[in-house]
Amino acid sequence: MTNPLSGKVVIITGASSGIGAAAARSLAQYGCKLTLAARSVDKMQALASELPTESLVVRADMTEPSDINSMVEQTLEHFGRVDVMFANAGIFIHGDFIANDINDISDMITINVDAVMRCAHAVIPIMKAQGSGDILVTSSVAGHEKLHRGPAYGASKHAIETFVNTLRRQVAADGIRVLSLAPARVANELWNLTDPEEIEKVSVGDQHFLKVEDVAEAAAYMLSRPRRVTIRNLVMIGTKQDV
Ligand SMILES: NC(=O)c1ccc[n+]([C@@H]2O[C@H](COP(=O)([O-])OP(=O)(O)OC[C@H]3O[C@@H](n4cnc5c(N)ncnc54)[C@H](OP(=O)(O)O)[C@@H]3O)[C@@H](O)[C@H]2O)c1
Repeated sequence: MTNPLSGKVVIITGASSGIGAAAARSLAQYGCKLTLAARSVDKMQALASELPTESLVVRADMTEPSDINSMVEQTLEHFGRVDVMFANAGIFIHGDFIANDINDISDMITINVDAVMRCAHAVIPIMKAQGSGDILVTSSVAGHEKLHRGPAYGASKHAIETFVNTLRRQVAADGIRVLSLAPARVANELWNLTDPEEIEKVSVGDQHFLKVEDVAEAAAYMLSRPRRVTIRNLVMIGTKQDV
């Protein structure tokens, strides 16, 4: 059976940890060539050294528009094309809105919304010229439900859901798919969960969290559907999480 992901060039933002790093491992197993982008270069270099396929490590701060453009340009220069933009980098600020620092909230909107739009804006002309491409965004269940514990985070992910669902129609005729993957809680650094035993307990045991590998496999599934199929929004929740 042919593997539709083999040889695809994928840019992953937020590749230094969590979902992005797990997606890098999974997509490399399927034969993708990867640009790993984030600020933590050491972590990405360590990850790149264990991947079975070619990868390019790019330091890119999602709050710096020139870094985003440079990330895409370096990918094009190195690999000659961009098949997938996995706009995954994001931060999570929750709790009492008024207790949050408004500058931190503003940075979150820049990373979770503005940078995702910049990533899409930078690759669409390339994908149009190629006649195909996929833009996959890591959203959240907070982009589907109105979760009162994180008003600004939920607003950022609702914004991105609207962006995905509407952009999709503007670029579909060019062979570009726009996809949103919306997990609920994932046991990783974002929740300060790094101990493997604790991760196993809250995911496999309690079923209150997903594992990063669950989300990475869902990303690979969405990207490997035949070109005629767009999984526009995929929501995934730990089976016993009360959301
Ligand atoms: N974990 C969850 O429960 C959960 C649930 C639903 C959705 N999500 C979404 O999943 C995505 C990935 O998060 P995660 O769970 O994998 O958390 P994570 O382990 O904390 O990873 C976040 C990633 O984003 C990168 N990042 C943060 N700020 C950045 C910036 N200014 N510029 C460039 N990269 C930046 C980080 O890299 P550097 O620090 O090295 O730059 C890191 O690679 C986010 O969009 C998040 O909203 C997570």
